Amino acid sequence: SRPTASQEKRVVVAAPRGYCAGVDRAVITVEQALETYGSPVYVRKQIVHNKHVVSDLEAKGAVFVEELVEVPEGAMVVFSAHGVSPMVHAEAAERNLRTIDATCPLVTKVHNEAKRFARQDLEILLIGHAGHEEVEGTAGEAPEHITLVQSPEEAAALEVKDPSRLAWLSQTTLSVDETLETVHKLRERFPLLMDPPSDDICYATSNRQAAIKQIAAGSDLVIVVGSANSSNTVRLVDVALEAGAAAAYRVDDASEIDEAWLEGVTQVGITSGASVPDDLVEGVLAHLTERGFPVAVEERLTEENLVFALPKELRRDLRRDV
Ligand code: F3S
Repeated sequence: SRPTASQEKRVVVAAPRGYCAGVDRAVITVEQALETYGSPVYVRKQIVHNKHVVSDLEAKGAVFVEELVEVPEGAMVVFSAHGVSPMVHAEAAERNLRTIDATCPLVTKVHNEAKRFARQDLEILLIGHAGHEEVEGTAGEAPEHITLVQSPEEAAALEVKDPSRLAWLSQTTLSVDETLETVHKLRERFPLLMDPPSDDICYATSNRQAAIKQIAAGSDLVIVVGSANSSNTVRLVDVALEAGAAAAYRVDDASEIDEAWLEGVTQVGITSGASVPDDLVEGVLAHLTERGFPVAVEERLTEENLVFALPKELRRDLRRDV
């Protein structure tokens, strides 16, 4: 007998997904730098947290390094989308490196908020994950003023210098709901806590979370495309599970899909992190159709039209037509 509508297999792709304006700009920056100045162009840290993007740029002549000591004196280096602390800028100047700063403007905004709160001599409770490059960069703007808060639990146990002189900021790629919970905990304990002038979690992070939330509850399986070190990607898995997906997994590409995940599954929900090129999602969709799933339908929550200008150092040289 024919399956009823509710048993018919479905693949639903969330939108917005994939590239945000900051990632798009950072990747184009490296490509344009290679075209303009020739290879090698050094890049400090992964330009964006996606292994496919990094290996594609490597193939075009970009050289990825962890720290500036690995860059030869006088060479050209691009700073990644996650931002760098002032110490890194100073080190680059000391070593006569030519720099292009591909820090996402929405990360720079958080740096500026940190500087402003530090000038007011406030203790800044920075909600984020220890060791993430963005957190290192933001904290580096005002190391003496910053206290890292990693979870609602840490907020509940936190000790501060002066409860009347506090402000909070956050990493741009956190779970919106968990961050609200952390702020709520902090405010319960420190009612005079000051807010950032505007949201630190960026539009791309919130839109991708809201879009997968809509699909997750009806999905037996959610597949999130993105790399393990991509904060916003990993958050999408958490958000999908919390919104009611029966199972949710992260894959770098279709080759990482475990056949067992697909057994007995009716609806598959798909999304991808802000550093993920859409051809990797296409690969996942093709993998599913080969296994008897129908062509995917897209559920779009909202449009995104933001585009950032390229870094000014690069625009200057593009004008000169080096
Ligand atoms: Fe920027 Fe948000 Fe993308 S901070 S790099 S727009 S994920």
